[in-house]
Amino acid sequence: MDKMLQSLEKQALEEISKAKSISALKEVEVEYLGRKGKLTNILRGVKDLSAKDKPRIGKLSNEVKNNIDKRFTERREEIEEQELKHELSKEFFDTSIPGISPPIGHIHPLSQVQEEVERIFNQMGFAIMDGPEAESEYYNFEGLNIPADHPARDMQDTFFIKDKEDEKHGRFVLRTHTSPVQVRTMEKYGAPLRVIVPGRTFRYEATDASHDTTFYQVEGLLIDKNISLSHLKGIMAEFLSRLFEKDVNVRFRPGYFPFVEPGLELDFSCFMCQGDGCRLCKHTGWIEFMGAGMVHPNVLKAGGLNSDEYQGWAFGFGLTRLVMMKYGINDIRLLTNGDLQFIKQF
Ligand code: PHE
Repeated sequence: MDKMLQSLEKQALEEISKAKSISALKEVEVEYLGRKGKLTNILRGVKDLSAKDKPRIGKLSNEVKNNIDKRFTERREEIEEQELKHELSKEFFDTSIPGISPPIGHIHPLSQVQEEVERIFNQMGFAIMDGPEAESEYYNFEGLNIPADHPARDMQDTFFIKDKEDEKHGRFVLRTHTSPVQVRTMEKYGAPLRVIVPGRTFRYEATDASHDTTFYQVEGLLIDKNISLSHLKGIMAEFLSRLFEKDVNVRFRPGYFPFVEPGLELDFSCFMCQGDGCRLCKHTGWIEFMGAGMVHPNVLKAGGLNSDEYQGWAFGFGLTRLVMMKYGINDIRLLTNGDLQFIKQF
């Protein structure tokens, strides 16, 4: 009996060592320790042994069982470790290859120039204002001295938002310019004021290379005591010189907008040819840039200001046009149509 146990142990340990996989090991386990396993049978028979043999054989067979158990556990861990190593070795990993960098976005040219404009006006003491894109007829027109029957309403083809109406402020429109924020700012902050309003504007227009239904403007408004158009000339010459990083001159021409009096158009000296004449300025040396003028007393009144005490000027220029000029973009639609190939150049 002792011999039998010993050879069983030896046999089992050998088979365990030979098992190359977890499933092979399981089979060996069943063979020896399963319900009908070789060792199980012996253990079961111990109780029928004579009183003389029972303690010794019982002890020995328990030792054999423990040894086999221990070896099973060891072998299982060995096999698992080998399998893991094998898995890893299949996956060749070259640490010297540069990683794949994820695509990183960048600032849209419109936003780049807008940020630059904001930075320069900030330096000159102007605050940045915002206003709603869906605006009331009141702020877009009446408040700016453009009554309903005024022919100037035809100057700006307007998108009307049908189902929205405000008793006090009339129908809602997609704002045709950033000028409505003039009255909003005066109402909110009173005077003195020094603000610019960059923002999205809309016109009901057929699109072509230089017209789009959606574009961007920058409004400017300066209100204080003893303000004249010479301040506007100085501010704009300084702004444009800083923007183009060269000396830029400006000139005024008469212009008409119902919300300014007197009204004017501002041109600046061509930054490509320094005024000598080139294709960009159509050989005039000047580039038409924006509308401006002294804020009309009716607009100051709409903003709740006393026009005897305060006066100021306002201007509005096309941010989209500025971006097109700055980068030599010849089709306005490229800026908003989401063409990544185009936009990735900036
Ligand atoms: N709002 C005018 C436009 O869109 C521009 C402007 C602004 C003119 C302020 C004068 C003063 O054409």
